[in-house]
Amino acid sequence: METMARLISSLRLWWRSPVSRSTDCEPQMIAQGWNDYAKAWKAEEFRVLPGNVVKHLGDEWTAEDTTEEGTTYGLDEASVAKFSTLLDDELLRKYLPAHCDEGLEIGPGGGRLTSLLLPKTAVLHAADPSEAMLKRLKARFPTNSSLRPHLTDGMSLPPLAPASLDFVVSFDVFVHFEPRLVFWYLRQIKPLLKTGGVGIIHYASVITPIGWRQFEADLEGNVRQRTSFCAFGTMCPQLMEHFLKALDLQVISSDVGMIPRDAITIFRKRD
Ligand SMILES: C[S@@+](CC[C@H](N)C(=O)[O-])C[C@H]1O[C@@H](n2cnc3c(N)ncnc32)[C@H](O)[C@@H]1O
Repeated sequence: METMARLISSLRLWWRSPVSRSTDCEPQMIAQGWNDYAKAWKAEEFRVLPGNVVKHLGDEWTAEDTTEEGTTYGLDEASVAKFSTLLDDELLRKYLPAHCDEGLEIGPGGGRLTSLLLPKTAVLHAADPSEAMLKRLKARFPTNSSLRPHLTDGMSLPPLAPASLDFVVSFDVFVHFEPRLVFWYLRQIKPLLKTGGVGIIHYASVITPIGWRQFEADLEGNVRQRTSFCAFGTMCPQLMEHFLKALDLQVISSDVGMIPRDAITIFRKRD
């Protein structure tokens, strides 16, 4: 009888606990939303700016139709037209070695950034909590032996060897995270980086004019709790800098100023 009472009491605690049920767990809710997105995705259903085509999942965000609430991250048309070159020149070539032994991409989705990382990396780990996204990623690079996809729980990085990575990169993923999850990931990234290893993380900034508009637009629907998996995170470069300093990661830039709506931080694991 006493055992039964204890069991019921611990079940009640489990039910009330905000992180123990998957429906209440924000990172899993975000991951679930993107998984549903990947399952339903059809190239022909997206309208993009003239001169752009949607071939792979993710192309639709590069050239969002700005006449239909799209923002294209605040980039002008000329930058949108050469988006891949911009990412390659201004981020990857600038901050990563030309050839890396091992790297990690968090949230590769349909492989928009992965396609730029693969030619530079002997072993590229790609961690995503969405099975459907990983399926599309594998289908895009079917014969590439450098790619190592990892299905995660949306909170934990894969169990890679400590100090094994030349870089950890993430684009268009942390923009949906709230500060706690950003810090949670940064704390896991540090031990995986080699000394001198580089982090490049694109994240939300509510202090840019477009970011602030996005914050206000998302406010009412998400104020009690997040209801939209793609809501904009409540981050800013000042908080990112604080996080990196707290972890003793060397801040190269808390925002390189490349994406008008958001921010991109570059950091290094100290010698
Ligand atoms: C907007 S897509 C961006 C995909 C890709 N990086 C790109 O730029 O095209 C967001 C990606 O992040 C993944 N994701 C969602 N929640 C995540 C989490 N908690 N941890 C890691 N990745 C997550 C999604 O499954 C999806 O693949």
